[in-house]
Amino acid sequence: MPSLFPILITGAGQRLGLHCALRLLADGFPVIATYRSERPGLAQLRAAGAVTLPADFTDEAGIRRFIDILKAHTEGLRAIVHNASAWLPDGPEGDASAFARMYHVHMLAPYLINLECEALLKASTAADIIHISDDVIRKGSARHSAYCATKAGLDSLVLSFAARLAPAIKVNGIAPALITFNEQDDDAYRHKALAKSAMGIEPGAEVIYQSLRYLLDNCYVTGTTLTVNGGRHLK
Ligand SMILES: NC(=O)c1ccc[n+]([C@@H]2O[C@H](COP(=O)([O-])OP(=O)(O)OC[C@H]3O[C@@H](n4cnc5c(N)ncnc54)[C@H](OP(=O)(O)O)[C@@H]3O)[C@@H](O)[C@H]2O)c1
Repeated sequence: MPSLFPILITGAGQRLGLHCALRLLADGFPVIATYRSERPGLAQLRAAGAVTLPADFTDEAGIRRFIDILKAHTEGLRAIVHNASAWLPDGPEGDASAFARMYHVHMLAPYLINLECEALLKASTAADIIHISDDVIRKGSARHSAYCATKAGLDSLVLSFAARLAPAIKVNGIAPALITFNEQDDDAYRHKALAKSAMGIEPGAEVIYQSLRYLLDNCYVTGTTLTVNGGRHLK
């Protein structure tokens, strides 16, 4: 029987976050979904019963504003899923703005939210934190080094929070490789990206929901990152 407390999922207005939030709702879990932009998916979420809260993790003030809003909306949380993410290329030489933006959304927001929400999670009999990073952290990226480094930081926080919060709260990660293309990806890009994995498919968001459910449902897995990469490491 799902817990009465909601699952918080950040950046859930579109794509993977939206899919997971809708699937959780369909499976009986209350959901609090955050959004930065008003996107069409939010109407679907509200119609399905989600509470939707604005959250902009561009700077520390925005992160703390969101934490205050969250605390005013719930007395407990079944789980937190850190899904919000920006995929920005490295800036021109000497420009730190992309790095700073991704540091805030990938690292500082999860860090502060985890610290501030410990009591909300401990109000639930089972409690989880799940960090969604990226399989690219295995090998680095020539043109997205800031993205890769800040996602590696997010993945590292899994271990530290898992140690800190056990046994009351399990903390795990999911590191996806290609799950869904962006609309603007052309045929040449798609062909090249598909060829990188052993499975050679665009699996779609359901594989992330399956991973999320595995981590939520299994009481003996903590401090682990699930690789969901279609066997990219085999090629
Ligand atoms: N899709 C894939 O194939 C893939 C592959 C590897 C890893 N992942 C990871 O899986 C997760 C979901 O991927 P996705 O493709 O569904 O992501 P997405 O389409 O880029 O959506 C991410 C969401 O994060 C929100 N966001 C970005 N910056 C934010 C900020 N400063 N404050 C608050 N919210 C912010 C965005 O809000 P707006 O709506 O305002 O833009 C967006 O809705 C991400 O963590 C991503 O890194 C995905």
